Amino acid sequence: MQVFLNGQLLEKQEAKVSVLDRGFIFGDGVYEVIPVYTGRLFRFTEHLERLQNSLDAIDISNPYSHTEWNKICDDVIASCPGDADKSVYIQVTRGVSDRQHLYPDNITPTVFVMCNLTEAHSYHDGVMAITHEDIRWHRCDIKAITLLPNIMLRQLARNSGGAYEAILVRNNRVTEGAASNVFMVKDGVVYTPPKDGHILPGITRDLVVELLQASGQGILEQDFSLQELKDADEVWLTGSTTGVAPVIQIDGDAVSDGCPGQYWRNANNLFNQYIEKIKT
Ligand SMILES: Cc1ncc(COP(=O)(O)O)c(C=O)c1O
Repeated sequence: MQVFLNGQLLEKQEAKVSVLDRGFIFGDGVYEVIPVYTGRLFRFTEHLERLQNSLDAIDISNPYSHTEWNKICDDVIASCPGDADKSVYIQVTRGVSDRQHLYPDNITPTVFVMCNLTEAHSYHDGVMAITHEDIRWHRCDIKAITLLPNIMLRQLARNSGGAYEAILVRNNRVTEGAASNVFMVKDGVVYTPPKDGHILPGITRDLVVELLQASGQGILEQDFSLQELKDADEVWLTGSTTGVAPVIQIDGDAVSDGCPGQYWRNANNLFNQYIEKIKT
């Protein structure tokens, strides 16, 4: 399998970056994960727009045009065997320099792109979640490679009886999962927190909002509290590698009757139908 590194396609084990890369030293970089269905990049424009926003936020100039990114992604997809669902991982760091906090002048970004197979998931039984204080910073809208809190929280969830996700709460407002966005349903209305600096503007989130709106389902982009989450009729998680996952237990307590609900089934069907259309 080949990966792209700084203008070259290389075997994965041949691709090397400097120990002075600011991604390695400071976590000074941003990334994207783009689903690939039947070889086609999913919502590519939206992912590239988010990459642009992340790059702008940390003053790295985008090294490639839309067309160039497309070619790079297609090249790594072509070297990833099989028809299974895949994803493309793009990482851009500020580049290599002697260690100093200030952004160095005249530095060339390090660009790394690889393709991975996506694990198939079935949410027939739903997933479990824990809740935790949102211990991250105030710029969660930047898709930064600095993911230490996120991985700690995901691991904590796993260590808490095999939960899939940690749902995060800041000032008693639910923000998002450690690697997903959160939706809840109460009395027939779907809620998801509004996009601000405390959540990543999820591409899957936006698509689910779009599909539900188009179907006539009531949906509000509105904050809700931890208690409202715990009293919800349904809770879902969304993400590029998660899809739309129903949460059936939070902090050990069942969500409603502890089974995936009808509103999730409807949202998941709309989402799957949308992807099936892309595939054909
Ligand atoms: C913190 C966080 N929120 C939300 C998401 C979901 O975003 P998307 O639907 O674009 O994958 C992710 C995805 O990795 C994430 O890391």
